[in-house]
Amino acid sequence: MTLSELAEKASRCNLCKLASTRTQVVFGEGNPQARLMFIGEGPGKDEDASGRPFVGRAGQLLTRIIENGLKLRRSEVYIANIVKCRPTVDGLGKRDRPPDADEVTACAPYLVQQIELIRPAVIVTLGNPATRFLLKTAEGITKLRGKWHTYNDIAVMPTYHPSFLLRNGGDMGNTPYKRDVWHDMQLVINRLEKN
Ligand code: URA
Repeated sequence: MTLSELAEKASRCNLCKLASTRTQVVFGEGNPQARLMFIGEGPGKDEDASGRPFVGRAGQLLTRIIENGLKLRRSEVYIANIVKCRPTVDGLGKRDRPPDADEVTACAPYLVQQIELIRPAVIVTLGNPATRFLLKTAEGITKLRGKWHTYNDIAVMPTYHPSFLLRNGGDMGNTPYKRDVWHDMQLVINRLEKN
Protein backbone atom coordinates (compact mmCIF):
# COMPACT_ATOMS: atom_id res chain seq x y z
CA MET A 1 0.00 0.00 0.00
CA THR A 2 1.21 3.54 -0.75
CA LEU A 3 0.90 6.49 1.62
CA SER A 4 -1.87 8.02 -0.47
CA GLU A 5 -3.80 4.72 -0.52
CA LEU A 6 -3.49 4.59 3.26
CA ALA A 7 -4.69 8.21 3.51
CA GLU A 8 -7.68 7.37 1.35
CA LYS A 9 -8.52 4.40 3.57
CA ALA A 10 -8.19 6.56 6.71
CA SER A 11 -10.47 9.22 5.22
CA ARG A 12 -13.33 6.66 5.34
CA CYS A 13 -12.40 5.25 8.77
CA ASN A 14 -15.11 4.30 11.24
CA LEU A 15 -13.04 2.32 13.72
CA CYS A 16 -13.76 4.50 16.76
CA LYS A 17 -16.33 6.93 18.10
CA LEU A 18 -14.37 9.99 16.92
CA ALA A 19 -15.64 9.22 13.40
CA SER A 20 -19.06 10.53 14.40
CA THR A 21 -17.85 13.93 15.67
CA ARG A 22 -15.00 14.79 13.31
CA THR A 23 -15.24 17.32 10.50
CA GLN A 24 -12.28 15.80 8.67
CA VAL A 25 -9.73 13.07 9.16
CA VAL A 26 -6.28 14.59 9.68
CA PHE A 27 -4.05 11.91 8.21
CA GLY A 28 -0.73 13.80 8.22
CA GLU A 29 1.28 15.68 5.63
CA GLY A 30 4.73 16.24 4.27
CA ASN A 31 7.39 14.52 2.25
CA PRO A 32 6.64 10.78 1.83
CA GLN A 33 10.43 10.28 1.72
CA ALA A 34 11.14 12.50 4.72
CA ARG A 35 14.23 11.72 6.78
CA LEU A 36 12.59 13.42 9.75
CA MET A 37 9.10 12.77 11.09
CA PHE A 38 7.21 14.52 13.90
CA ILE A 39 4.47 12.77 15.84
CA GLY A 40 1.94 14.72 17.92
CA GLU A 41 -1.12 13.74 19.87
CA GLY A 42 -4.21 14.43 17.80
CA PRO A 43 -5.96 17.16 15.82
CA GLY A 44 -7.43 20.19 17.55
CA LYS A 45 -10.10 22.57 16.31
CA ASP A 46 -8.06 24.20 13.53
CA GLU A 47 -6.73 20.86 12.29
CA ASP A 48 -10.23 19.31 12.30
CA ALA A 49 -11.48 22.26 10.27
CA SER A 50 -8.61 22.31 7.76
CA GLY A 51 -7.78 18.59 7.53
CA ARG A 52 -4.08 19.42 8.11
CA PRO A 53 -1.92 18.62 11.17
CA PHE A 54 -0.40 21.32 13.35
CA VAL A 55 -1.88 24.44 11.77
CA GLY A 56 -3.19 26.16 14.94
CA ARG A 57 -1.09 28.07 17.48
CA ALA A 58 0.91 25.00 18.51
CA GLY A 59 1.38 24.20 14.85
CA GLN A 60 2.73 27.66 14.11
CA LEU A 61 5.26 27.17 16.88
CA LEU A 62 6.18 23.73 15.48
CA THR A 63 6.68 25.35 12.07
CA ARG A 64 9.07 27.88 13.63
CA ILE A 65 10.96 25.07 15.35
CA ILE A 66 11.33 23.30 11.98
CA GLU A 67 12.25 26.41 9.99
CA ASN A 68 14.25 28.47 12.48
CA GLY A 69 15.59 25.70 14.71
CA LEU A 70 16.26 22.90 12.27
CA LYS A 71 16.67 25.14 9.21
CA LEU A 72 14.39 22.86 7.19
CA ARG A 73 11.25 23.58 5.23
CA ARG A 74 8.03 22.21 6.70
CA SER A 75 7.40 20.44 3.39
CA GLU A 76 10.68 18.51 3.76
CA VAL A 77 9.60 16.70 6.92
CA TYR A 78 6.52 14.57 7.64
CA ILE A 79 4.04 15.51 10.39
CA ALA A 80 1.48 13.11 11.85
CA ASN A 81 -0.44 12.39 15.03
CA ILE A 82 -1.27 9.29 17.06
CA VAL A 83 -4.98 9.74 16.39
CA LYS A 84 -6.29 11.16 13.14
CA CYS A 85 -9.59 12.60 14.39
CA ARG A 86 -10.17 15.34 16.94
CA PRO A 87 -11.03 14.15 20.46
CA THR A 88 -13.24 16.59 22.38
CA VAL A 89 -14.85 16.46 25.80
CA ASP A 90 -18.26 14.74 25.44
CA GLY A 91 -17.80 14.85 21.67
CA LEU A 92 -19.29 18.33 21.78
CA GLY A 93 -16.58 19.96 19.72
CA LYS A 94 -15.81 22.61 22.33
CA ARG A 95 -12.95 21.49 24.55
CA ASP A 96 -10.10 19.23 23.35
CA ARG A 97 -9.04 16.24 25.39
CA PRO A 98 -6.27 13.65 24.99
CA PRO A 99 -7.27 10.54 23.02
CA ASP A 100 -8.46 7.65 25.20
CA ALA A 101 -6.98 4.14 25.14
CA ASP A 102 -9.67 2.73 22.80
CA GLU A 103 -9.12 5.53 20.29
CA VAL A 104 -5.36 5.04 20.33
CA THR A 105 -5.75 1.27 19.91
CA ALA A 106 -8.11 1.73 16.97
CA CYS A 107 -6.06 4.41 15.22
CA ALA A 108 -2.44 3.43 15.94
CA PRO A 109 -2.19 0.95 13.03
CA TYR A 110 -2.41 3.94 10.66
CA LEU A 111 0.57 5.58 12.35
CA VAL A 112 2.52 2.33 12.45
CA GLN A 113 1.97 1.91 8.69
CA GLN A 114 2.85 5.56 8.03
CA ILE A 115 6.17 5.04 9.81
CA GLU A 116 6.83 1.81 7.87
CA LEU A 117 6.08 3.50 4.54
CA ILE A 118 8.12 6.64 5.22
CA ARG A 119 10.95 4.91 7.12
CA PRO A 120 12.47 8.19 8.39
CA ALA A 121 15.98 8.27 9.83
CA VAL A 122 14.72 10.18 12.88
CA ILE A 123 11.36 10.52 14.63
CA VAL A 124 10.67 13.37 17.05
CA THR A 125 7.81 12.56 19.44
CA LEU A 126 6.04 15.63 20.82
CA GLY A 127 4.89 15.26 24.42
CA ASN A 128 3.86 12.36 26.62
CA PRO A 129 1.17 10.52 24.63
CA ALA A 130 3.24 10.17 21.43
CA THR A 131 6.41 9.33 23.34
CA ARG A 132 4.77 6.76 25.59
CA PHE A 133 2.97 5.14 22.69
CA LEU A 134 6.04 4.78 20.50
CA LEU A 135 8.49 3.79 23.22
CA LYS A 136 6.00 1.60 25.11
CA THR A 137 6.86 3.22 28.41
CA ALA A 138 5.01 4.88 31.26
CA GLU A 139 7.97 7.18 31.93
CA GLY A 140 7.38 10.93 31.57
CA ILE A 141 8.71 13.29 28.91
CA THR A 142 10.97 15.18 31.35
CA LYS A 143 12.98 12.01 31.93
CA LEU A 144 12.90 10.80 28.31
CA ARG A 145 13.61 13.98 26.36
CA GLY A 146 17.08 14.94 25.26
CA LYS A 147 18.19 11.32 24.89
CA TRP A 148 18.09 8.94 21.96
CA HIS A 149 15.70 6.01 21.98
CA THR A 150 14.73 3.58 19.22
CA TYR A 151 11.56 2.34 17.60
CA ASN A 152 12.02 -0.53 15.13
CA ASP A 153 15.63 0.56 14.53
CA ILE A 154 14.59 4.19 13.93
CA ALA A 155 16.19 6.85 16.16
CA VAL A 156 13.59 8.58 18.35
CA MET A 157 14.08 11.92 20.10
CA PRO A 158 11.27 12.83 22.51
CA THR A 159 10.78 16.51 23.24
CA TYR A 160 8.17 18.81 24.76
CA HIS A 161 4.94 19.36 22.86
CA PRO A 162 4.65 22.91 21.43
CA SER A 163 1.34 23.33 23.32
CA PHE A 164 3.26 22.71 26.54
CA LEU A 165 5.75 25.41 25.54
CA LEU A 166 2.86 27.80 24.86
CA ARG A 167 1.32 27.06 28.27
CA ASN A 168 4.66 27.56 30.01
CA GLY A 169 6.01 30.92 29.02
CA GLY A 170 4.38 31.28 25.66
CA ASP A 171 6.33 31.74 22.47
CA MET A 172 8.02 34.83 23.85
CA GLY A 173 11.49 34.85 25.34
CA ASN A 174 13.93 32.15 26.21
CA THR A 175 12.20 29.89 28.74
CA PRO A 176 13.99 26.82 30.19
CA TYR A 177 11.60 24.46 28.36
CA LYS A 178 12.26 26.21 25.09
CA ARG A 179 15.99 25.95 25.66
CA ASP A 180 15.49 22.21 26.22
CA VAL A 181 13.68 21.91 22.89
CA TRP A 182 16.47 23.81 21.10
CA HIS A 183 18.95 21.44 22.72
CA ASP A 184 16.96 18.41 21.55
CA MET A 185 16.71 19.83 18.01
CA GLN A 186 20.48 20.33 17.92
CA LEU A 187 20.86 16.61 18.65
CA VAL A 188 18.45 15.92 15.78
CA ILE A 189 20.48 18.12 13.39
CA ASN A 190 23.69 16.33 14.36
CA ARG A 191 22.09 12.94 13.86
CA LEU A 192 20.65 13.84 10.46
CA GLU A 193 24.05 15.16 9.34
CA LYS A 194 25.75 11.95 10.44
CA ASN A 195 23.29 9.54 8.78
N1 URA B 1 -1.58 19.20 18.59
C1 URA B 1 -1.26 17.96 18.16
O1 URA B 1 -0.78 17.13 18.91
N2 URA B 1 -1.47 17.69 16.88
C2 URA B 1 -1.97 18.57 16.02
O2 URA B 1 -2.11 18.23 14.86
C3 URA B 1 -2.28 19.85 16.50
C4 URA B 1 -2.09 20.15 17.78
